[in-house]
Amino acid sequence: MTNSTRKILVTSALPYANGSIHLGHLLEYIQTDIWVRFQKSRGNQCTYVCADDAHGTAIMLRAEKEGRSPEAQIAAVKAEHEADFAGFQIGFDNFHSTHSEENRHFSEEIYKACRDKGHIAVRSITQLFDPVKEIFLADRYIKGECPKCGAGDQYGDNCESCGATYTPADLKNPYSTISGATPVEKESEHYFFKLPDFDAFLKEWTRSGTLQDEVANKLQEWLDSGLQEWDISRDAPYFGFEIPDAPGKYFYVWLDAPIGYMASFKNLCDSEQGKAAGLDFDEYWNKDSSAELYHFIGKDIINFHALFWPSMLSAAEYRTPTAVNAHGFVTGNGAKMSKSRGTFIKARTYLNHLNPTYLRYYFAAKLGSSVDDFDLNLEDFVQRANTDLVNKLVNIASRTANFVKKSGGKLSDTCVEEAMVQDFINAGDSIAAHYEAREFGKAMKEIMALADRANEYIQEKAPWAMNKEEGRQQEVIEVCSVAINLFRQLITYLAPVLPEIAEKTAEFLNLDNLNWESRSTILLGHEINKFKPMLARAEMDKVTAILEETKTELAIENGEKPAAETKTADAKQSKKQEKKQKSKGPELREDGNEVIADTIEFPDFAKVDLRVARIVKADHVEGADKLLQLTLDIGNGETRNVFSGIKAAYQPEDLEGKLTIMVANLAPRKMKFGLSEGMVLAAGPGGSEIYLLEPNEGSQPGMRVM
Ligand code: 2FM
Ligand code: ZN
Repeated sequence: MTNSTRKILVTSALPYANGSIHLGHLLEYIQTDIWVRFQKSRGNQCTYVCADDAHGTAIMLRAEKEGRSPEAQIAAVKAEHEADFAGFQIGFDNFHSTHSEENRHFSEEIYKACRDKGHIAVRSITQLFDPVKEIFLADRYIKGECPKCGAGDQYGDNCESCGATYTPADLKNPYSTISGATPVEKESEHYFFKLPDFDAFLKEWTRSGTLQDEVANKLQEWLDSGLQEWDISRDAPYFGFEIPDAPGKYFYVWLDAPIGYMASFKNLCDSEQGKAAGLDFDEYWNKDSSAELYHFIGKDIINFHALFWPSMLSAAEYRTPTAVNAHGFVTGNGAKMSKSRGTFIKARTYLNHLNPTYLRYYFAAKLGSSVDDFDLNLEDFVQRANTDLVNKLVNIASRTANFVKKSGGKLSDTCVEEAMVQDFINAGDSIAAHYEAREFGKAMKEIMALADRANEYIQEKAPWAMNKEEGRQQEVIEVCSVAINLFRQLITYLAPVLPEIAEKTAEFLNLDNLNWESRSTILLGHEINKFKPMLARAEMDKVTAILEETKTELAIENGEKPAAETKTADAKQSKKQEKKQKSKGPELREDGNEVIADTIEFPDFAKVDLRVARIVKADHVEGADKLLQLTLDIGNGETRNVFSGIKAAYQPEDLEGKLTIMVANLAPRKMKFGLSEGMVLAAGPGGSEIYLLEPNEGSQPGMRVM
């Protein structure tokens, strides 16, 4: 390696160990992987680490639901994540877990450093507590009626029905989504990281070229409005690391998550692979390290990476990141990716039908360095992959390779278009600058313009026609050798995006590697191998199959019979609607939760299976203040058990025999009193003024409501 070899450590956000990787995640991993492969191609010592983000209440509850220990749960998810990443050719140098000894070590060390320097405050706070499950409830585990409009089943921070915002304590009739119990207020001691201590440091750090301008501006607003202390502790039961001097208190998952970057790197340094590569932890993490450190993240977790993380690192006297590179969200056909729209496609579902190369290329072709959202339009995706990769790129080799192979397999000894090949070589500098700046779209544009030139050249020379003419065989080889040299240049430039095609090309061209610098020699008199097909066309019906499989997965998740019972909206209609939907410019997310849209599209509504139901039986529920238990006849001999909060408005005996409208495909919900298999629809301000919707005019059980 030369003196100018840079030492670069790169990370992507750590995926939570309680869910599958989906295409929204993959934008980031593919973006990072391309950048890392580019750096490696340039001869830099670039190391890419990641890990599963394994702690927190959600993971603990998920493990419980699956009937296994959190350790077993995170091990299973890790295996799944690693297989998915490998499927998309994400070349991590190490994929670790935040539930690791290395991470415990660094979390404790950093915490202690903060504490010893007076950056930790301890005080009691009051929170809502689930008295049945004996657990403090984060806002997302509390639901109730909106204090403003009375809509039921609303989360603790805003109402999906009227848009009001409030705190969980304001909800009427709140309940814990974990046990169904009514939460009570309870005090406990919490540990806070005194972020305001870092005000001056952050004002400087966020403006020192570490952030994209739009991100720095956003942070400026937060800095101007005053920083708040950050609650870094959670009470038992919690799956995480116990705070060293505070039994029963655990580090909040977001405290040890970014430390997981260090832990994963440390784990690599201590491995055979790390030792062989000469990786030295201190060289990368010391306060005065000259190595570079980059975090690739989504724009929703900027506060964690650009406020808390650099502050903690500086308190513990570690180096801070060289830059935090944020990207936007992936939208599906212009709308937020959502399960109900069927655009929430899992990595594995994609891999079951399509080659990852197409997606890697499509992401690269449309990615820039900004935090703008990324629209994944599936028709455009198929078209782009076919036009650029199959028609333009691979075609260059497939149209010319055989002529060389048939006449002995050696490229010509001279280059008859030296100037053009040299142009292609020279273009590498500006393409490299685009990669370096994460302007992959611009890089792809330049590369495809070169591919157009190569195709024009081949078209103009038409070696297939020449080959039919007596005595022009040498010329055919010369032309095809030029084409193959151009192809080699193009694949060198595309290798960070298309590692599989690059590998096949290296084999075809009989080359050890396609590193950036190696391109500067023209291949003359060089023996090549037989050309084998590199990439088939992407088929739209494979995309359809992915969407179908995604729908089926969702139905199974919701406990429905796949596809059969749900209303299927006319596909064209739904596509039109989705195109119309404008992306709403998502806000910075405070936690790892999906942001909930406040309007739905027709296809979402069409999924709701509304049925006329006869209340055949209504009973009081022992121990429940608001609920009645209803047995509903929904036609065809099918009955449903539903718990409904209408006790203040109706006596059970008044209800029996009545017709009402129910949501028949609502996922069954386990309540304290039993399983509720649907929901009856009612209107009114609440309390005793709730009116069940009663269909008249010839209704009978089982009729669909349209
Ligand atoms: O938002 C998320 O999915 C988090 N699991 C990301 C963590 S990134 C890092 F800080 F660990
Ligand atoms: Zn409301």
